[in-house]
Amino acid sequence: MLATIGNTPLVELRRLYPDTDTRVFAKLERANPGGSIKDRSALSMLLDKVRAGELTAGRSVVVESSSGNLGIGMAQICRYFGLRFICVVDAKTTEQNIAILRAYGAELEVVTERDALTGEYLPVRMRRVRELLTELPHAYWPNQYGNPLNPRAHEKTMREIDEALSGRIDYLLCATSTTGTLSGCARYVREHGLRTEVVAVDAVGSVLFGQPAGRRLLPGHGASIRPTLLDPGDAAEVIHVSDLDSVVGCRRLVLREAILAGGSSGATVAALDRLIRRVPAGATCVLIFPDGGDRYLGTIYSDAWVNQHFGEVAHLWKDPGRVPVGAARAAGAQGC
Ligand SMILES: Cc1ncc(COP(=O)(O)O)c(C=O)c1O
Repeated sequence: MLATIGNTPLVELRRLYPDTDTRVFAKLERANPGGSIKDRSALSMLLDKVRAGELTAGRSVVVESSSGNLGIGMAQICRYFGLRFICVVDAKTTEQNIAILRAYGAELEVVTERDALTGEYLPVRMRRVRELLTELPHAYWPNQYGNPLNPRAHEKTMREIDEALSGRIDYLLCATSTTGTLSGCARYVREHGLRTEVVAVDAVGSVLFGQPAGRRLLPGHGASIRPTLLDPGDAAEVIHVSDLDSVVGCRRLVLREAILAGGSSGATVAALDRLIRRVPAGATCVLIFPDGGDRYLGTIYSDAWVNQHFGEVAHLWKDPGRVPVGAARAAGAQGC
């Protein structure tokens, strides 16, 4: 099972921008066994410790805060090694993610109160993690927001892209939250002297790159804290994408390319909509699609949900001539 993590497909998108000579490729991370790019981070943060005998079945407890993909990746790998895993989630974690976590055998701690200062669940989830670490002997906290093994995993993500395209990558668009993907890819680009401009795709309302905090609807990209991993110098450029533009990006992607992708993938499409107007002729752009759309059927792919939050917007993806730019009412946010 572990060997099926990584080496995900890189596909050319020929129908999104039919009238340009820009080549666009997408790295489909949903092909990982846990369904997202976070399988790579989870494996990287656990494997060395297991090999070194620092994490052992029947003794160690892995504790992590995640309401989504990282938790699922961790749950899968902990199951594989027979490690006890406690996942600290919050009241906004979807029923589907909770069911997946339980199916892998994770124990769940559900935080139901928001932080008094910020109104967010994340600070309360982090406090609960720290309590568990003091309460439980032999507990290990991978800490995806600060563990250098998280970005290390993505040097390989970038190596796979580099090898597939023989280094000819002009732009790489990465959605950001812990910034592990951004940082690992940027490091590979620097160390291998690639010409690639690494573009961070962040959510409107995320505090990562100095913008004010705001409420967000879509989980995945964006963050309400600035991770210790974050190095703003890793991004040649940052593009902020609203929830609505991310939804439109997803809907255009499935309509044109038959790719059912998650919200942060739609955000990278929306970011490319803006970037493509100024990329040099014949450029090659790569988008990382962190997960699939099956975890967003009740939101992004539900007409009723979209209508409730954004009104009648279907013309934005059905009209092929229209490229959406900045919009969106936003409410609510989820952690990574
Ligand atoms: C769907 C999705 N997109 C993007 C990201 C951001 O990736 P990173 O944490 O490497 O910045 C995450 C993180 O969990 C994610 O789940």
